[in-house]
Amino acid sequence: MKYFIGADLGTSALKLLLVKSSGEIIKTAVRFYSVYYPNAGWSEQNPEDWWNAFLSGVKELVQDINPAEIAGIGVAGQMHGLIVLDKDDAVIRPAILWNDGRTNKETAYLNEVVGKEKLSKLTANIAFAGFTAPKILWLKNNEPENFSKICKIMLPKDYINYKLTGVHCTDYSDASGMLLLDVKNKDWSQEMFNICDISENQMPKLFESFETVGTVLPHIASELKLNANTVVVAGAGDNAAAAIGTGTVTDGKCNISLGTSGTVFISSNEFTVDGNNALHSFCHASGEYHLMACILSAASCNKWFCEGILKTEDYAVEQNGITDNDLGKNDVFFLPYLMGERSPINDTDARGVFVGLCMNTTRADMVQAVLEGVAFAIRDNMEIARAQGINITSSSLCGGGAKSELWQKILCNILNVEVLLLQTEQGPGYGAAMLAMVGCGEFANPKECADKFVKLKKTITPNTDISLRYEERYKKFKEIYPTVKTLYKKLI
Ligand code: XUL
Repeated sequence: MKYFIGADLGTSALKLLLVKSSGEIIKTAVRFYSVYYPNAGWSEQNPEDWWNAFLSGVKELVQDINPAEIAGIGVAGQMHGLIVLDKDDAVIRPAILWNDGRTNKETAYLNEVVGKEKLSKLTANIAFAGFTAPKILWLKNNEPENFSKICKIMLPKDYINYKLTGVHCTDYSDASGMLLLDVKNKDWSQEMFNICDISENQMPKLFESFETVGTVLPHIASELKLNANTVVVAGAGDNAAAAIGTGTVTDGKCNISLGTSGTVFISSNEFTVDGNNALHSFCHASGEYHLMACILSAASCNKWFCEGILKTEDYAVEQNGITDNDLGKNDVFFLPYLMGERSPINDTDARGVFVGLCMNTTRADMVQAVLEGVAFAIRDNMEIARAQGINITSSSLCGGGAKSELWQKILCNILNVEVLLLQTEQGPGYGAAMLAMVGCGEFANPKECADKFVKLKKTITPNTDISLRYEERYKKFKEIYPTVKTLYKKLI
């Protein structure tokens, strides 16, 4: 029997899947770790926590099989995070994550002094605070001693691959989010290296996501009881891997992810850039390209409200009383900008807001407002895609938030698109396992694998009454941010 491991190095947890070569998931393991918020709008994690989670998770995952039968490992990961190692391969400082907003100044420098036009020409993208290049500049400006020690720069999942194989590598999909890659030509941009005062020898070697980067190091193989020939593929950024896992691989297909972040991912056969660079233009793990928008807080808003504020982990109980009749009638609105916001407003100062509270407002109204606020923020991004002439009429849905039937319905009606639910909900981890299968020669390419494995479970279609009601609510939602925008800076 041949098995594959697909790992999703998320922000809240590492999710591991054990997958048979038939595509069947036979076991899962999850390991949680902390996110640290040392200042408002900052977020960090310890790469060692990821690695310990990986080791202990894999040990649990392979308990009931012969681990030597694992043929390949694929890792997908949260994108954009900056991990820096010194000459002894020690982590220099905690990883600065994708939803960290500390790089205001550096982002403004890149967009305004270097200039958006030049950035777009060099990398197909402009700077957003969460991207890696502004973080490198932040380190240079604020922690010069740490900056001077940097020998290796890598992204979160690359740290796992480095510990596994000893190969300093990354893949094109994840590298796209660094603002250091010439996305169109799939090569590092030397000019961006100059701008960030780094050099190519500090950077990982580039691979396609499904290419083999190496095999598991002997001491790791013996600790995990793996065969020393176990193949490790380059893996992918979590969104590109989720796109593989949800079969979002041909032109114009869309996947929405409701994880810690919320993303709209549109695959594309050809390289494209939207006129204002409002959408990210990145390489796909399939070998193609994609456009993407990302909101920084999606399922994390629901987690924050239920666990942090209402002090409950029973999300379903909170949502149970909300019926079709309540949808599109909520007088309470929520702006989900708990970590600032990336797409489309690109505002690190933005914060969460509840508007419309009155003496009749119930707990359920506020729960509903949180789910709706996230869906409206995703709609904002759908509108950007629509303005580019990309007509999305259906989308697959994945991520932790996708488990809620209520949220599925809210999203479907706010976006007015068919929502496709798949038999396997495990987008990024499943995609990562599929990439490992391609790397091991089970399939010629990710599309062939997706065509075989990805199966539709259910289609949710918009309800005319509800979506019309939401159309009216969305017009109101759109007015809230421009109205409060100027307040944010005064509140800091
Ligand atoms: C995408 C992004 C997030 C992270 C979260 O650009 O920043 O989706 O990858 O895991």
